[in-house]
Amino acid sequence: MMVIASDPTVIDEKSFDNTLRPQRFSEYVGQEKIKRNLDIFIQAAKKREESIDHILLYGPAGLGKTTLAHIIAKEMGVSIKITSGPAIEKVGDLGSILTNLDDGDVLFIDEIHRLNKMIEEVLYPAMEDYKLDIIIGKGPAARTIQLDLPRFTLIGATTRLGSLSNPLRNRFGSTHRLEFYTPEEIERIVKRSSGILNIGLDEKGAKKIAASSRQTPRVANRILKRVRDYAQTKNWPTITGEIAKEALELYEIDHLGLEPTDRHILSTVIHKFKGGPAGIQAIAAVTGEEIQTIEDVYEPYLIQLGFLARTPRGRVVTPEGYKHLDIHMPADHQDKLL
Ligand SMILES: Nc1ncnc2c1ncn2[C@@H]1O[C@H](COP(=O)(O)OP(=O)(O)OP(=O)(O)O)[C@@H](O)[C@H]1O
Ligand SMILES: [Mg+2]
Repeated sequence: MMVIASDPTVIDEKSFDNTLRPQRFSEYVGQEKIKRNLDIFIQAAKKREESIDHILLYGPAGLGKTTLAHIIAKEMGVSIKITSGPAIEKVGDLGSILTNLDDGDVLFIDEIHRLNKMIEEVLYPAMEDYKLDIIIGKGPAARTIQLDLPRFTLIGATTRLGSLSNPLRNRFGSTHRLEFYTPEEIERIVKRSSGILNIGLDEKGAKKIAASSRQTPRVANRILKRVRDYAQTKNWPTITGEIAKEALELYEIDHLGLEPTDRHILSTVIHKFKGGPAGIQAIAAVTGEEIQTIEDVYEPYLIQLGFLARTPRGRVVTPEGYKHLDIHMPADHQDKLL
């Protein structure tokens, strides 16, 4: 089965992402409000010759958080060190990362909601006062020494703001939520990418790909590449609307960008849980998908489309969700959404 939304194995993902990654705000499409705000912070910090305040970026996977962190460092003219919540296993790991930074550097921590508690607590004084407390020795002989740290900027990224502890959240100077992109923005992104990758793409082809890209740049770039593969097998030099349509049908991606897995999640909730409410664990168990993948990749877009709703008692398929799958909705179903 073709799973474009979540598949990290699609042809050397890392280098593919890097080739297409915008380097500057001027190349970064959309997210206008965030760009405006960040640009002000950056200009002001530069004027004062200070580092910028810690920044928290959140939003669904593939919307451009990592890209934005790189751009911020570049616009500031500083280096960026990259790590992630699960990669920092011991307090010592964080200590060595922090002490190796230079003044002004950006430290990017991806998936920051997955930092463990002990490490988080070391991070607080580091963020607030640029101090690192380290404990030397054990038992009654143990003592704490304090190191001064460079004035770094922490950029945290997370798909789940809700999983972040309050003390950590509060230590960021600004928090920015990335939004899904408009079709026009995604069109600009695939056109830009086709230029970089030297792929022939006409107006209708770009529109068709944009419409099926879950309003998400990463998915748009993956689909572009997949459709190009298809066009090549047919010996078509250019991706037209017609070619894109054929390829998307072959890959079972519908006109809204839903893949078989999305439809499977919706139909599972409908058929196995009477349309919901269903808990995420139960949905994961029945569909065979990982909880995290459902929460980070599939669900946000289904919610964005208004096909799935999160209620206090679990996920419920909406009337629009039933309609999209062409399944009859019981008359009393509406009540479950209240
Ligand atoms: N605003 C944008 N303009 C152009 N291309 C973009 C934009 N945002 C993202 N992209 C493209 O999408 C790809 C994925 O973006 P990125 O890796 O920054 O997402 P992310 O939010 O960090 O996702 P994840 O949560 O999965 O780590 C990038 O390689 C880049 O090519
Ligand atoms: Mg990322």
